[in-house]
Amino acid sequence: MKEQLEQIRAAAKQALSGAATGQDVDALRVRFLGKKGELTAILKQMGSLSPAERPAIGQLANEIRADIEQAVAQRMRAMQEKATAHRLQRETVDITMPGKVSPQGCLHPVNLVTEDLIAIFQSMGFDVVDGPEVETEYYNFTALNVPQDHPARDMQDTFFLGDDLLLRSQTSCAQIRTMETRKPPIRVICPGRVFRADEVDATHSPVFHQCEGLVVDKGITMCNLKGVLEQFAREIYGPETKVRFRPSFFPFTEPSVEVDVSCAECGGKGCRVCKDAGWIELLGAGMVHPNVLRACGIDPEVYSGFAFGIGLDRLAITRYKISDIRLLFENDLRFLSQF
Ligand code: PHE
Repeated sequence: MKEQLEQIRAAAKQALSGAATGQDVDALRVRFLGKKGELTAILKQMGSLSPAERPAIGQLANEIRADIEQAVAQRMRAMQEKATAHRLQRETVDITMPGKVSPQGCLHPVNLVTEDLIAIFQSMGFDVVDGPEVETEYYNFTALNVPQDHPARDMQDTFFLGDDLLLRSQTSCAQIRTMETRKPPIRVICPGRVFRADEVDATHSPVFHQCEGLVVDKGITMCNLKGVLEQFAREIYGPETKVRFRPSFFPFTEPSVEVDVSCAECGGKGCRVCKDAGWIELLGAGMVHPNVLRACGIDPEVYSGFAFGIGLDRLAITRYKISDIRLLFENDLRFLSQF
């Protein structure tokens, strides 16, 4: 029996050393140490031994059981360590590898000035409204006091889409859409794209951006217009900026003005940027024409208002000293990523 026990010990150890997986090891544990295992089977024969033999064999059997148990545990641990080492090896991060640089985007200069402009007018209580880029003649012209066949329609070379539709040539359509849906007091701005059939050159593009402003309430005067625009100009170009009004004409405002700001580059002395004028043309504005108010169901005897339209591309160009408007539309990342 002693021999049989030693054989089991040897067989178990040999089998364990050949086990390839944790499952194999576990199967061997069952095979040798389990309730129906080989060692147990031998111990069941203990009864046939003489009382003198029993203690020695019993002790040996216990020792062998402990030995095999230890061998199983050891083999199991070794396997786990190997697996862990293998995993760590696989998951190793080579910190000397160059990182992946994900390029950071930036805002387009026109978006930058638009966001600033929105913030400035919002701080003065204006809402931001939106309007369609495809408009009807009514919103782009007729309701803005430009009747059919009026020569003022030629002031802006419009892209017609047929069937009464056109690409809006100005954001002034927003005045009408706003007054149709809101009652005074009204204070809105409407930034957006506009389209004109202009030849492309350093200062013209068939697509450009404007921001319309509209205020309608009781007792609104040119003074309010000037105050709002002065505040705006100072926030954009600096606190020393001066604003001047020049008489002009727009069909939808009366009186109409062209608004200049003192040149931020030379402070008004005259330089290359302002072409020695000391002033830079910023926007068109005026008091909303009574006919426009009337077309929107607002009584011009009770209410008055002002409107203005700012060219956002020009704003971006003067602010960032960009020499050519085409740069804004060519989407050259080398240029755009500077802002
Ligand atoms: N819509 C005019 C233009 O595009 C600008 C403007 C807007 C003038 C509002 C007066 C009032 O030239």
